[in-house]
Amino acid sequence: MPFVNLNEILPAAKANHYGVGAFNVIGEPFICGAITAAEKEASPIIIAFAEVHESYVPLEFVAEMVKYWAQRARVPVALHLDHAKNVDTIIRAIRAGFSSVMYDGSTTPFADNVKITQKVVAIAKPVGVTVEAELGILTGVEEVAEGKRPTEDFYTDPEQAAEFVEKTGCDALAVSIGTAHGMYTWETMLDFNRLQKISELVSVPLVLHGGSGLSSNDFRTAISKGISKVNVFTECALAAGRAVREAVNDNSKSFPDFCQLGQKAIEDLVRSKIRIFGSCGKAV
Ligand code: 13P
Repeated sequence: MPFVNLNEILPAAKANHYGVGAFNVIGEPFICGAITAAEKEASPIIIAFAEVHESYVPLEFVAEMVKYWAQRARVPVALHLDHAKNVDTIIRAIRAGFSSVMYDGSTTPFADNVKITQKVVAIAKPVGVTVEAELGILTGVEEVAEGKRPTEDFYTDPEQAAEFVEKTGCDALAVSIGTAHGMYTWETMLDFNRLQKISELVSVPLVLHGGSGLSSNDFRTAISKGISKVNVFTECALAAGRAVREAVNDNSKSFPDFCQLGQKAIEDLVRSKIRIFGSCGKAV
């Protein structure tokens, strides 16, 4: 089937208290692994591609590959641009056929984040493309590697979130409540009271970034308190890496086998996350 956008997936998730996984992809094993997992679990799925991953593969090529599999899939598939900091990349993604985009203005001042998100909404909405925005700052991979933890100064302010959504008209909002990109080197302490407050004040579906390494309990509590979209990348990449590493010293195996083994590891990981998020059987 053709791509769906976030508004065709997330309102049902929000109303029925389950989460839909957004899994970042870089190449074929990621794409095929994630879509196969969604089909086996009869779950809607969001295939995400991050602007920074253009260092591996151009977004136009990703769009064509995902289109090929989505057209043959029996479950709804959204293709979402993740963490775009440049409006030019957003325009390219829309032209390439992405059904959803994220503008990440989280590190810019509030007024600029509002202004550019408004501009992105004005570009995307008329062509049926949904827009995710972010308020509050997420700790990045480099900072995590340096052992830096999220601090409350960077968390999303609930009143400001309501004002932001009202002013921008975005379709989904990524929030900062203590998650970080990459694997956690500390015990997570997510600010669920803040999340609850945000979800009481904000009408659009909320997004949790930094899903890798969170416990099932963290996921379930976050979803019960208003998260509808959950982003996962690092765990998929690590699972595929482990599978390849195990096979690499076996001389009977070569590169196509590595790709297949990596893909199967991603499929298994995505299936396990879909079950935790509760979206299995929700494909319609
Ligand atoms: P992780 O790599 O920590 O799972 O985060 C993924 C993410 O939030 C992509 O936007």
